[in-house]
Amino acid sequence: MSSNPSTVRIGIIGVGNCARALLEGISYYTVHPEDTTGLCHPAIGAYGPADVVPVAAWDVDAEKVGRPLWDARAAGQNLDVGIPQDALKPIADGVTVSRAPALDGAGRKYRERITVAQPLGNWTPQEEAARIRAEVRDAGVQVLVNYLPVGSQEATEWWAQVALDTGCAFVNNIPVFIARNPEWRERFREAGLPLIGDDIKSQLGATYVHRVLARAFSDRGITLTRTYQLNVGGNMDFYNMLEADRLATKRESKSGAVTDAYAGHLDPGNVHIGPSDYVAFLGDTKKAFIRCEGRGFAGAPIEMELQLTVPDSPNSAGIVIDAVRIAKTALDREEPDVDAWASAWLFKAPPRPVAQESDMQARRNIDAWLDEV
Ligand SMILES: NC(=O)c1ccc[n+]([C@@H]2O[C@H](COP(=O)([O-])OP(=O)(O)OC[C@H]3O[C@@H](n4cnc5c(N)ncnc54)[C@H](O)[C@@H]3O)[C@@H](O)[C@H]2O)c1
Repeated sequence: MSSNPSTVRIGIIGVGNCARALLEGISYYTVHPEDTTGLCHPAIGAYGPADVVPVAAWDVDAEKVGRPLWDARAAGQNLDVGIPQDALKPIADGVTVSRAPALDGAGRKYRERITVAQPLGNWTPQEEAARIRAEVRDAGVQVLVNYLPVGSQEATEWWAQVALDTGCAFVNNIPVFIARNPEWRERFREAGLPLIGDDIKSQLGATYVHRVLARAFSDRGITLTRTYQLNVGGNMDFYNMLEADRLATKRESKSGAVTDAYAGHLDPGNVHIGPSDYVAFLGDTKKAFIRCEGRGFAGAPIEMELQLTVPDSPNSAGIVIDAVRIAKTALDREEPDVDAWASAWLFKAPPRPVAQESDMQARRNIDAWLDEV
């Protein structure tokens, strides 16, 4: 299928709450083209938020597979993500959610809540991979967007390979290390394809705020001695994260994002950061409790506590809307090394060489790159 150069054709892997927020955001900015509320970058190169066009989607939930994407966004375990529905009109006309390979995507907690759709045929893994590659190509996908559940190591690698095989950019929103992994980065560079990730950093989320606080301690000459960040929420992301075995990379990504922002050394035993519990009645609202303890002038003690309440999924979509447009711009400009500019601003676990940049420096880098567009 030929593709319109003035659009960003995305394929969505995992139609959960984050995908819902992204779809509803694209719809919102399509209906309200003059409104730039809630956007870091109203325009990225040639692309506004309404130029992002979902052209394909995959999931395993039997309540989503086979349904029109716009309907599937509100199906199964997906929640109201707080975007007023009367401000929207349906988008992604003609796009039906296709069945993805299950692999390690839906874990034990997840399967308590969903029924995994039957495979479409009695196919070998090779035949199923060929089917998906054909779907990606036929839909004209340019950017594959990974929204699988935390702990989907095998499935994320499977989809990264699909991106390589089909000539797509890959945006990895989840805490499985792909962009941070030098081998994967090298493979995407060799293929001339942008790879950005890992683990989307929400627009004004716990990670960003905690990084700013940690940085403030070192910038102002205060020694940060102990810190925690406790997070609770009531969506499927939090329910899935009750499965402790799936959390290792999530904890690594979230803790590293904060300790990397602090210029001094923090004893790992004095840092506790991660998803903390599932509280059903919170729905898509996330609460973060952040505490920083330090020593100031002549060792005098300083304490800081902050509580943040945010809509979890729209908060991530506000950055993903930039990530997909940046990935497409990098495709247009044939600059597969875009991760060096973009990932530190957009993601919690960017490639190591840029991981210790301050957020302000990362923002300056990205804006300088965008100014060249
Ligand atoms: N602020 C945020 O919301 C935020 C921030 C950073 C990272 N993330 C990450 O983004 C990811 C998506 O978050 P979410 O809130 O949309 O989660 P979600 O649980 O609502 O959605 C996940 C979707 O993936 C589907 N799925 C499960 N196994 C699959 C498979 N094998 N193939 C295809 N689809 C499969 C599920 O059925 C579900 O629709 C999570 O890993 C989350 O941790 C979210």
